[in-house]
Formats: sequence, structure tokens, C-alpha cells
Amino acid sequence: MQTRTLGSTGPAVSALGLGAMGMSGVYGTADRAESIATVHAALEAGVTLIDTGDFYAMGHNELLLAEALRGRDRDDYLLSVKFGMLRAPGPGFGGADGRPEAVKNFLAYSLTRLGTDHIDIYRPARLDPAVPIEETVGAIKEMIDAGYVRHVGLSEVDAATIRRAHAVHPIADLQIEYSLISRAVEADVLPTLRELGIGLTAYGVLSRGLISGHWTAGHEADPGDSRGHTPRFSRENVEHNLALVEALRRVAEAKGCTVAQLAIAWVAAQGGDIVPLVGARTRERLAEALPATEVDLTADDLAAIEKAVPPGAARGDRYPPALMSSLGVGN
Ligand SMILES: NC(=O)c1ccc[n+]([C@@H]2O[C@H](COP(=O)([O-])OP(=O)(O)OC[C@H]3O[C@@H](n4cnc5c(N)ncnc54)[C@H](OP(=O)(O)O)[C@@H]3O)[C@@H](O)[C@H]2O)c1
Repeated sequence: MQTRTLGSTGPAVSALGLGAMGMSGVYGTADRAESIATVHAALEAGVTLIDTGDFYAMGHNELLLAEALRGRDRDDYLLSVKFGMLRAPGPGFGGADGRPEAVKNFLAYSLTRLGTDHIDIYRPARLDPAVPIEETVGAIKEMIDAGYVRHVGLSEVDAATIRRAHAVHPIADLQIEYSLISRAVEADVLPTLRELGIGLTAYGVLSRGLISGHWTAGHEADPGDSRGHTPRFSRENVEHNLALVEALRRVAEAKGCTVAQLAIAWVAAQGGDIVPLVGARTRERLAEALPATEVDLTADDLAAIEKAVPPGAARGDRYPPALMSSLGVGN
């Protein structure tokens, strides 16, 4: 597995990271043993970056990772942890909490659940509109000074917030949705990251499976599967979006790879400062994703991909209406 460095101050990580969110039910029921086997397979393949959030099923995801990582050398992997989303029993979110005292409280619980003495990259999942980002990042900086955190990350914020946060403490990376059908980062965010020397970890590179080549129009999402409420998967939009995937499939076939590999490779090809995260929750999906780092896209390939899926071609927002307003950029 090749490595990439997250920004000018961040760590070197595998060129592909593993996102563990789907292992905690966000995309419907996940098999615990298979999830753990997937984490092990990723580590064995050289993946060193593992992403989680304390609010993924209220600590379930961190406890699952703790179990999967037990007995491993702590220097063999890096944990990226998102915090700050408020939950209540049942589904849904109650906003974000970025107060300094909340940062430390969230961190204390995460360290315990993960069974570790430090988190490699710690990031607020969403901006708390009631708390200046300087205060939130200032609290993470204190936790770095105390040895509990190694790097500050951000998630789903706009260019102005990135600048303000970076002025308090160097930011290692921004985590944000970036895929062939979610390119809003290209306007202001990506140039700002490059100007400041901040890396980008891209999530949703398969648009949650929509552009993986495995989704079908008749697919009925489980009741607990968030894709059942995501506009791009809705009955009105999904057929249009899957027609884009079929166009992509023709390019993939000509290249001798799968649609998922092509979609991941396209994100990786947008710059050496970008690390795609994949949300594999089974060894089978992981095995498909891993070789994407070796798919070498030529200028002709990139042109063919963009012809198949031009910018802005997808229909529907990337999040349900209630969650769109918490994002720093649009689709
Ligand atoms: N910062 C943020 O706001 C934020 C938001 C969301 C996610 N994230 C992080 O980013 C990670 C990845 O995001 P994501 O899971 O939404 O995006 P994704 O990688 O675009 O989608 C993952 C889903 O795609 C499907 N899939 C089909 N073929 C696949 C393949 N070859 N490899 C992997 N998945 C395949 C799987 O669904 P099936 O298993 O049903 O086939 C899988 O659950 C998350 O785990 C999380 O750590 C961050």
C-alpha cells in the first residue's frame, strides 16, 4: 500500500483509509464478526488510517474498533475520530456541541471506549454555530499539549472556517464528501486547503454505494439504512443517477477495472494531498476497493470519466434537507 501525507504538518497514512461508520448500522444491519474481520483484512493489506465518530450508534463504533484493534501495536494504525454530534435515544441528531468543555468530555469518553491513550486526528464532525471555531480548536490544541491528541482535523466546513481554525493550530486534514457526483469542494475549499498546506480525506467517494456499480433501482433500503432518506437514492432521482453509473461502467470495462475502483481512483487522482476513505463493511467490498490505489488513470481516462459523469450531473442533494444546512459546502 502506498502512503500519502496529510498536509504539511499531518501524518503519513495509507493511500486509502477505512471508514467504519457502516459497521454500526448507518447503512442497515451490519454483521459484527464480519466488520471485525474487515478491519483485520484492511490492516493486513497495509491500511493505516481508520476513521470513526463517537456518535456512530452512540459509541458502538468505537467499542467495535477497540475490539478489532485489541492486541495490535498502537503505532501500526492511526485513529481519526469525529466528535460533537448530539444524540438522543433513537435515530436523528440534535445539533453539534463544540464548546471547549464538551470537547474534553467527548475526548475522555472516546479514549476510554477506544482503549487508547491518544487519538491521532481529532475533529469536530460539524461546526457548532453557537461556538467560534477558534474555541473548539483551542480546546483540541490543549489536548494535544496534554498528550491526548496528535493532530487537529476538520469536517464539512467552508473555506473561511478552515482559515480561522488553521490560525489557531495547524490543521492536518479536512474530511469532506468528494466524489464524481459531489464536487462542491473544488470551488473554494480545495484551493484553500492547498494554499494552507492542509490535506483532504475524502468520504462518500462511492456516494454511499450509489456509484459503486452494485446499487440497483429496485433496491429496498432496510428501515435503519440512512440511504432510504437520502435524496440521491429517492425514487425520483435514483434512475437518473444510475444511468450515470452505467456510463461509468463502460469506461471501467474499457480500463479493465470495476466501477467502484474507477470512482475511488478518480478521487485519488485529483491530487497527492487527497486520501479517499472507503466505507467497506465486508471483506468482499474491501477486496474490491483496495486495488483502486493501483489503477493509474491517464489524461484520456480522466476525460472519458468526466464525459460519462460531468460535474453537477447527479440529481438530488447529498443529504436529507434537515442536514444540508449543517454543511460548509453544497453538492
Ligand atoms: N465527516 C463526515 O461528515 C462523514 C460523513 C460520512 C462518512 N464519513 C466517514 O467516511 C467513511 C466512508 O463514507 P461512506 O461509508 O458514507 O462512503 P462510501 O465509501 O461512499 O460508501 C460505502 C458504502 O458503499 C457500498 N459499497 C459498494 N461497493 C463498495 C466497495 N467496493 N467498497 C466499499 N464500499 C462499497 C457499501 O454498501 P453495502 O455494504 O450496502 O454494499 C458501503 O457501505 C465512513 O465510514 C465514515 O468513517 C464521514
